[in-house]
Amino acid sequence: MTEIEAWLCGVTGYDRVSLQPNAGSQGEFAGLMAVRSFHLANGDLRRTVCLIPSSAHGTNAASAVMAGMRVVVVKTAPDGAVDLDDLRAKVAEHADTLAAIMVTYPSTHGVFEEGITELCELVHRAGGQVYVDGANLNALMGLAQPGSFGADVSHLNLHKTFAIPHGGGGPGVGPVAVKSHLAPYLPNHPLLPEAGPVTSYGPISAAPFGSAGVLPITYAFIAMMGAEGLKEASQAAVLSANYIAARLAPSFPILYTGANGLVAHECIVDLRPLTKQTGVTVDDVAKRLIDYGFHAPTMSFPVAGTLMIEPTESESLAEVDRFCEAMIAIRGEADRVAAGEWPSDDNPLRHAPHTLARVTASEWSHPYSREVAAFPAGLALGAVGAGARDKYWPSSARIDGAFGDRNLVCSCPPVDSYGE
Ligand SMILES: Cc1ncc(COP(=O)(O)O)c(C=O)c1O
Repeated sequence: MTEIEAWLCGVTGYDRVSLQPNAGSQGEFAGLMAVRSFHLANGDLRRTVCLIPSSAHGTNAASAVMAGMRVVVVKTAPDGAVDLDDLRAKVAEHADTLAAIMVTYPSTHGVFEEGITELCELVHRAGGQVYVDGANLNALMGLAQPGSFGADVSHLNLHKTFAIPHGGGGPGVGPVAVKSHLAPYLPNHPLLPEAGPVTSYGPISAAPFGSAGVLPITYAFIAMMGAEGLKEASQAAVLSANYIAARLAPSFPILYTGANGLVAHECIVDLRPLTKQTGVTVDDVAKRLIDYGFHAPTMSFPVAGTLMIEPTESESLAEVDRFCEAMIAIRGEADRVAAGEWPSDDNPLRHAPHTLARVTASEWSHPYSREVAAFPAGLALGAVGAGARDKYWPSSARIDGAFGDRNLVCSCPPVDSYGE
């Protein structure tokens, strides 16, 4: 753990790291508690305003509120970056009560904020601290250090950037990394003095070193990659995202790009014009991707009606190409709906995903074939033959996700049954 902490300091340019937080969001909470403690120790009792750009991940605002801060939202400029004019105005308005800004770099809009250094200076001049959400560190590692371009504190998501499997609800590791002036306020633990400084506000999770059991994954990852390998991982992640953006741009507009037309580690594919033109929705595209053998990328976050695609460094060029070809083929299917070849309520997109039971049922009343339903063009680069072996069959057809979210049904056995 000591070695991992030192390596993470090297990657980020910070001075100290605590591995206690079990998730990125817990790292945010720990980091903001450090900021809050720092202001309190300086007698700045009134510094409670936390500026958060509207592109931020939802956990940012939640963490700020949990840490006793008041959230003030900063607008987004048309290119997806933080609106620096709005930031200047908000900093001036809240100068006496400014605790911090929480900014994600590169942002959740998939762009490197060109004004990041200026942003840090503006906030520091007003007496605030700069929190850089480091969940997107896989675009920075080996290339730039938040601790060097002006930030005071960050969390990292080891379950994103450092190989711990992501998804399924954890366990995650969201270390919080700080410059030395915040180090006295990293979390500690009542049962283990070496878990953190005595000057801390206390623990933020039950175990002194959080999800320590999965740390060997990160240890092995960093040890095997080495400094050059980590840098290459970032370069591959950024290159893959830009490759996807370039290949998909003729079929779908890319919502945000930087000044030179490039994206960072992810790209937002804007499906809203397609929906307007053809009636094909972001849900239809996401579900149709399952027929093509893909789990859909992030849907309708951070912008409703869009897909946010983050290939990371882990996917091979063949897999990235297979994905691009599926998306391009889906665009072709949407065009057939627009051309009136398939009705807008009865086409392979609207009925996706297609289960084995549906495709093999005796009755088939759709205006498209079973083959188009289950083995769409581009699937594993071949509808029959070798490619068909890789066919993924979904276990469930389309469900109304929003209805399900709003009408929870408990499917566990009743409590009485445990008595029996
Ligand atoms: C930008 C950003 N910040 C914070 C988080 C929160 O991390 P976690 O899900 O581990 O709590 C995420 C998670 O995806 C994220 O993308």
